[in-house]
Amino acid sequence: MLNGKHIILGISGGIAAYKSVALLRLLVKAGAEVQVIITPSGKEFITPVTLSALSGKPVISEFFTANTGSWNSHVDLGLWADAMIIAPATASTIAKMAHGIADNMLITTYLSAKAPVFVAPSMDLDMFAHHTTTNNIALLKSYGNFIIEPAEGELASHLIGKGRMEEPENIVAYLDTYFRSSQDLKGKRVLITAGPTYEKIDPVRFIGNYSSGKMGYSLAHECAARGAKVTLISGPVSLKVEDTDGIEVIKIESGREMLSECEARFGKMDIAIMCAAVADYYVADVADKKIKRESEEIPELKLAKNKDIAATLGQVKTDKQILIGFALETDNEEENALKKLKKKNLDFIVLNSLKDKNSGFGTDNNTITIINKDCSKIKYPNMPKPAVSKAIVDIIVNNYLCSE
Ligand code: PMT
Repeated sequence: MLNGKHIILGISGGIAAYKSVALLRLLVKAGAEVQVIITPSGKEFITPVTLSALSGKPVISEFFTANTGSWNSHVDLGLWADAMIIAPATASTIAKMAHGIADNMLITTYLSAKAPVFVAPSMDLDMFAHHTTTNNIALLKSYGNFIIEPAEGELASHLIGKGRMEEPENIVAYLDTYFRSSQDLKGKRVLITAGPTYEKIDPVRFIGNYSSGKMGYSLAHECAARGAKVTLISGPVSLKVEDTDGIEVIKIESGREMLSECEARFGKMDIAIMCAAVADYYVADVADKKIKRESEEIPELKLAKNKDIAATLGQVKTDKQILIGFALETDNEEENALKKLKKKNLDFIVLNSLKDKNSGFGTDNNTITIINKDCSKIKYPNMPKPAVSKAIVDIIVNNYLCSE
């Protein structure tokens, strides 16, 4: 599974850096293209010459290459990678990752990386057990990073305990398993709606809402990364999808445009996730010229009801298709979400809690409860939207696709 994969191997300054040489050799042997990034203190433990000889690429450590003055772009590296593995990850590097202290090339690249990040901690047993480290590791997990637990054994201090970086063979096996299982949506076609809709009032004004598209775009990336062919029907948002992401994006503006794009495609889809915040009403009598303020008369908007896209797809859904909706409620959250699930013939509904400040519209995080048809519920803590997407896709794969 590692053949042809682009892997960033990040090395920070710990005694286990010597094991990174073996890890690099194994990755290259498995057919991966590896770019090593080493922190300044990492170089105290292992020389860049050894690493570049094995990877066949210059090792990156500084923001600028001293002899040419050229800039090492962490953004380009972040886009290039299929995976980033930080081994060894010292307590200091873990803390910097958890809190965004971007003072070296490794951390800036980590912050730009779109690919999954694997962290193999290595430190003395007391440092590993310290609350600071456990909290930082918990933060990294909550951001969707994968922690490759250190093993127990004799440490550099000659003490015995947990803190030894996992063996290179096991790290490679971990990555291999990840790439194997991460293709669990391979061959599936997924339709996702995202963002708000804009309903025109006149040529310069519209009725809209605060949806930023973050949740829907994150779902699109998660599904694409797991091998699905994704079509994203997006309302007006500032987010972008890279060509390399393998996601087809169809930009629309109004609820009626979103409906017609969804209806045209749904028949060919295996899964549809209705994440957009579609306006309930559109303006029936759109003015063809800007409505002027000078007029004494206060304009009245004649509204008409937008057709419910999720319910429309729910009516034609086959037993083989999976239809998922979101619910945004301000009161009687679970009861209303369940009503929507039944009315729209959804397989499950994702309820966003607006009671939590860092949840719902425009936020980076979301607090969700997944409600199934049989009324069973799974509540999740407040998590970054990529982690929420992973949780939703895990439910699709484990509870719905496996019963096909
Ligand atoms: O974009 P972000 O800033 O990241 O915010 C994400 C989000 C809060 C917008 C998203 O997580 C979310 O909750 N989307 C659904 C919002 C909504 O419209 O909820 P609703 O309870 O009004 O609608 C229920 C379901 O019916 C939703 O799946 C919705 O997409 C769908 N619907 C609603 C109206 C309509 N005309 N057609 C629909 O398909």
